[in-house]
Amino acid sequence: MTTRAEALEEIAEQVRVCKLCRLYQYATKAVPGAGNPDAEILFIGEGPGYNEDKTGLPFVGRSGEYLDKLLSLIGLSRKQVFITNVVKHRPPENRDPLPDEIAACKPYLDRQIDIIDPLVIVTLGRHSMARYFPGGKITQIHGKPKFDADRAYYPVFHPAAVLRNPSWQEGMEADFKRLPQILAKVKETRASAPKRKPPQDDTPPTQLPMF
Ligand code: URA
Repeated sequence: MTTRAEALEEIAEQVRVCKLCRLYQYATKAVPGAGNPDAEILFIGEGPGYNEDKTGLPFVGRSGEYLDKLLSLIGLSRKQVFITNVVKHRPPENRDPLPDEIAACKPYLDRQIDIIDPLVIVTLGRHSMARYFPGGKITQIHGKPKFDADRAYYPVFHPAAVLRNPSWQEGMEADFKRLPQILAKVKETRASAPKRKPPQDDTPPTQLPMF
């Protein structure tokens, strides 16, 4: 059976040779995503920047340092979560990813989500937010989770945007501090209505008594 780590590595290999949009032409390294394959929380950013393009790892620059600090506020490290982006190659000059680039990369992100099956998806900034909150305005909806049958979607500011707007810092930290509560709520929901099929019982069926 393929493990989650193997399935994610298979996607990463496809991403590294991907030419489905123009972005690979300008990039040094693809940045498929990194972290714990069994993560309960998945963070989705925008796209690799300068440092990520050099290393092949997500959020390793200044905004990555800030993300680490935010995670430490709730006792987490990046080893416990999974971090990826809506586009896996760096847009030139760090411009916004274009809609056709996001669409071309979507199947990779969809598969990463299916494999990890996170309890909470935290969207970092506008581009990943738009997947789950189309038409939403980040300044209005940050910190307001949306729950479905077995997952929460949680929009927060992009760490780089907070670094540029220090007045958002307090709100960002408050949003992060709400994460454990959101996670606990999803765990409760999943416990009362488990999504995954229980392990197959392979004892042969027995004849039920007639009466
Ligand atoms: N900003 C992003 O959105 N993603 C990264 O990986 C780094 C910076």
